[in-house]
Amino acid sequence: MKVQSNLKGAAAAVRPYNFSAGPATLPFEVLEQAREELIDWNSGGTSVMEISHRSKEFIRVAAEAEADLRELAAIPNNYKVLFLQGGASGQFAFVPMNLAVMDSSVDYINTGHWSQKAIDEASRYSKVHIAGDAEGNYSRVPPQVELKFDPKASYVHYTPNETISGVEFSYVPETNTVPLVADMSSSILSRPIDVSKFGLIYAGAQKNIGPSGLVLVIVREDLIGHARPGTPAVYDYKAMADNDSMLNTPPTFSWYMAGLVFKWLRRQGGLAVMGERNRLKAEKLYTAIDRSSLYSNRVEKDARSWMNVTFDFNKPGLDQLFVEQAERAGLKYLAGHRVRGGIRASIYNALPLTGVLLLIDFMREFERKNG
Ligand SMILES: Cc1ncc(COP(=O)(O)O)c(C=O)c1O
Repeated sequence: MKVQSNLKGAAAAVRPYNFSAGPATLPFEVLEQAREELIDWNSGGTSVMEISHRSKEFIRVAAEAEADLRELAAIPNNYKVLFLQGGASGQFAFVPMNLAVMDSSVDYINTGHWSQKAIDEASRYSKVHIAGDAEGNYSRVPPQVELKFDPKASYVHYTPNETISGVEFSYVPETNTVPLVADMSSSILSRPIDVSKFGLIYAGAQKNIGPSGLVLVIVREDLIGHARPGTPAVYDYKAMADNDSMLNTPPTFSWYMAGLVFKWLRRQGGLAVMGERNRLKAEKLYTAIDRSSLYSNRVEKDARSWMNVTFDFNKPGLDQLFVEQAERAGLKYLAGHRVRGGIRASIYNALPLTGVLLLIDFMREFERKNG
């Protein structure tokens, strides 16, 4: 079995590369730190999981995580950062509950499975107008000129990276004065972002941030405080912001882990460095796919995801064999999502270039034997 070269200790000998789409691989250094601190955190004789979220020790963890994230993503002061629960799917509902003015309509751009889920949920609260559509063909992103916005919409929602088909916007849509809402679950922190272009950003933690159970919301202050009547307090951004995301018990362990990941990202050099690494990893993998005669990627070149690289075989019946043999070579969780099939390599921040290079070697060898 191939092993990660940057690891120490016994764990290193058995640790494969993990291409899971989410929950996903975490930086090994972060896992080691969490293991070391698990039983006796902060020399207090308890785990961080076992203390009150209202203790001064945990409040320090929470505040540091927010400060590190603000620094990493250069979040302007007029934005609130919320650490919530309910996953990204919860946000599909909480966004319209909080931001959709009663009786107005909301604009959605549909580029894939997760955009469609967000549209389905928003339709329960608001009139949804489709401002742009990949027309069932989830292999492209509509260019700005194709987008038809309603200037009276409460907001425009889009999914910068569609995790299942591996389709990513290479630009931020220009919506003029209408607030832009982005589901960044599978692309947050993968490269620098200009937060000021967005009204609201949300992201489930379990890909580029930490364990599941936590969802981040970054929201411009003027957009909160208008939740529709009947919105439960724990889903109301203003109520959560006024209580530092601690109106009720937050997912403390996930929050702590997210904080460790933010510190790790800062040690790596921040989002510009991560962006460069991610661009290079994706470029190498797409080049290997394009040069082969066995593999093909269906996504238009300017819409190819840096985080989720999908490909299919030009010969039938090889998917399962590929996944099984890759797993034996220490390259795990490469099966495509059940709604799409094929292969998907999720190459988030914590998946190093060496893992991608090993995958490329494996793909070449597999093609030699089966092509
Ligand atoms: C882009 C995107 N949005 C939303 C979701 C749903 O996230 P959750 O399971 O946290 O509700 C996912 C899950 O993979 C996703 O990739």
